[in-house]
Amino acid sequence: MKNTKSYIAIVFSLIAGLSLVSCNSHDDTGWEFAPNMYNSRAYEPLTQINSNSINPGGLNMRKPVAGTIARRKFNTKFTQEDGSVVEDLMVYDFGKDDLALAANVKNPIPWSEQAEEEGKVLYERNCMHCHGEKGAGDGKVAAKYKGVPNYSSDALKNVSAGHIFHVITFGKGRMWPHAAQVTPIERWKIAHYVARLQIGG
Ligand code: HEC
Repeated sequence: MKNTKSYIAIVFSLIAGLSLVSCNSHDDTGWEFAPNMYNSRAYEPLTQINSNSINPGGLNMRKPVAGTIARRKFNTKFTQEDGSVVEDLMVYDFGKDDLALAANVKNPIPWSEQAEEEGKVLYERNCMHCHGEKGAGDGKVAAKYKGVPNYSSDALKNVSAGHIFHVITFGKGRMWPHAAQVTPIERWKIAHYVARLQIGG
C-alpha cells in the first residue's frame, strides 16, 4: 500500500515536472502532437518555418515576374455603344462608402448577347438562390434570409450598372460582399443580366 502511494506520488511529480519544463518560456509552444496541423506542409505565402530549398533566397514567396501590373493600376480601355471610351475597367479606387460615385460609372463592357448570357450563368450560380430566377427576391434562400428585394421594384428598377457593381463588390445592408466570388469583369457581365431583370426579364 505504502509502495503504491509513493509510486503514484512519483508519477505525479514527474507529470508536474514535465509540465513545468514545457511551460518554462512564453516563446516555447511545448510539445506538438500533430505538428502539421499547426505548420502547414504546403508552401504558404505568408507563413514560413523552414527555408524553401527550391526558391531563390529561401522564401516561399517569389517576386512577381517583370512586367506584372498591380491590380489597382490595371488599366483597360473599352469603347461603349455611344462611342465613348472608358479608360479604367476595374474602378478599384472606389471604397465601400462610394456607392454614389460608383453609380455614375457606365458598364465598361459593351452590351452583347454573349456578355448578357455569360452574366446570366454567373447570376444563376451566385445570386439566384437569394434573388430568384427572375430577380423578384424569391430565391429559396430568401425564404429564410429575409429582406431580398425585387429588382423591378420602384426602388431598384432604375439603379445603374455601376450601382450594381458596387453592391456586388462591397455588399449593402443585409447583403454580403461577393468580391471574392466573382471577378470585376464577371460583375459587369452580371450587371448586364440584372439590367434585363430590372425591366422584368
Ligand atoms: C444570401 C443572399 C444573397 C445573395 C447570394 C445575393 N444577394 Fe443581393 N441582396 C440580398 C439582400 C438581403 C439584399 C437587401 C440588402 C439591404 O438593403 O439590406 C440584397 C440587395 C441587392 C441589390 C439592391 C441593392 C440596393 O441598392 O438596395 C442588388 C442590386 C443585389 N442585391 C444584387 C445581387 C447580385 C448581383 C448578386 C450575385 C452576385 C447578389 N445580389 C447575391 C441578398 C443576397
